[in-house]
This record gives sequence, C-alpha cells and structure tokens, in this order.
Amino acid sequence: MFKKLINKNKNQPIQSNFDLDLHNIPNHVAIIMDGNGRWAKQRKLPRIKGHYQGMQTVKKITKVASDLGIKYLTLYAFSTENWTRPESEVNYIMNLPVNFLKTFLPELIENNVKVETIGFMEYLPSSTLKSIAKAKEDTKHNTGLKLIFAINYGGRAEIVNSVKSIYDELTAKGLTSDEITEQMIDDHLMTHAYPDPDLLIRTSGEQRISNFLIWQVSYSEFIFNEKLWPDFDKEELINCIKIYQSRQRRFGGL
Ligand code: FPP
Repeated sequence: MFKKLINKNKNQPIQSNFDLDLHNIPNHVAIIMDGNGRWAKQRKLPRIKGHYQGMQTVKKITKVASDLGIKYLTLYAFSTENWTRPESEVNYIMNLPVNFLKTFLPELIENNVKVETIGFMEYLPSSTLKSIAKAKEDTKHNTGLKLIFAINYGGRAEIVNSVKSIYDELTAKGLTSDEITEQMIDDHLMTHAYPDPDLLIRTSGEQRISNFLIWQVSYSEFIFNEKLWPDFDKEELINCIKIYQSRQRRFGGL
C-alpha cells in the first residue's frame, strides 16, 4: 500500500517515502516542457539560455526514462503557435535538435533509443530536417525507448488533417460518413503507431494542455509539476511516476 500525503493546494499527493513500483512504470509519458524563459529571466539571462538549459534537461530525462523502462517519451518541443515568438528565439529553438543530436546521438544509439517525430515537419528549416533525418536513420533498428519529438505540432490541426484524409478515402471509395469511427480517427493521427499517453506532465506550475495531444490524453493522468523545465530532474520524474502509481485509473468505469 502506498502512503499518500495530500498537498491541500494542488489536491495531489506530494513526495512520499514509498518506493517506486518498477512493475507499474507508465508505458507512455508525454511532457509539456515549460518554463525555460522564466528560468532564464530569474537569472537575468536571455531566453535562449533557458532553452539551451532545457535541452540539457532533455538529455538527462531521456536517459532516466530509458533506464526506467518507459517505452514512449513524447516531448513538446515546438507548437504550431510558437512561430509567433521573436524570430531570433524561433531560429534558436529550430537549431536545438541539430545541437542536441550532434552532441547526444551516440549516447542515444548506445542506449538503444529510437528517435521519432510528430508534427508538420515540412515547415522546418532544412538543417533541422537533415539532422533529424540522420538521427531517425541511425536509430531506426533500435528497440528501446521511443523518443518522440513533437515539433511544429498542434492537436487541433492534427485532428483536422485526420478528418480530411478520412473524408478523401471515403469519397474515393464511394462511402459515407456512417463509416467513421473513433478508431478510424485515431488511425489517421500522427500518433497512430503509439499507444495513448498514460501520464502527461507539464512543468513550471502552469495547468493547461496548450493544444498538445488533445485527442490522445482523454484518459491520461495529468501531473502539473512546479519545477521550471531546466530544473526538472531524475528525482522529479520519479516523484511524478510515484504520484501516477498512487492514482486509480478507471477509464470511465467504476
Ligand atoms: C517552453 O518554455 C519551451 C519551449 C517552447 C521550447 C522547448 C524546447 C526545449 C525544452 C528544448 C528542446 C530540445 C530539443 C532537443 C528539441 P517557455 O519558453 O514558454 O518558457 P516560459 O513560459 O517560462 O517563457
């Protein structure tokens, strides 16, 4: 039995002394990595320094996720709405995968991690696309953690695309909308090859979904963590998983 301590403000168990149950590790963890800008501001640094530090956290958390036996880790790196940020910041974020993969790809390969992406990739700079393509190619036979970067991703646009392609398929076959099922919508999403997230974490204390995997998180457990993303670490991830393990998932049943 888990010993639960309830944090009255957040109505969530806070860190406790129970052990992590290695037989109940969430299969798919999705993370909204928020707070890079505030981390930098607190230190009177430019925002891009926060993103740089955020990239270092991605490296650490990928390693921990892989060691824990998490099978899918989806990270929200850039949303379809993030293009409205200053051009210099957008350019910096777009270059992060290049930097990340240049310095970290050997370790990903060594750890049997497979790099994948979701998002509207065709709008990314060619240098970003090139380094991601290389990482995908070099890790395509890996069978461990799937590290899925959501880049230029937006949940509503993803659903619109799914519905459009279903419409096209039905029209081509002379079928009507009566054929449309939840499974069919699911099969046409960018995440069709992945199970839904079991656990969704958002850092920095903000409590929003921000258009991230809005279809897929219908039955995910949500944890809003107070740390800014650059400060998120192994201990915090383990604590989130302990909270997840203390919850009862009912999927609409009793
Ligand atoms: C949100 O923080 C963060 C982003 C929009 C960028 C996330 C990118 C990373 C963490 C690095 C990704 C690394 C790779 C390898 C792709 P914010 O800027 O909105 O923070 P704020 O809310 O404090 O301003």
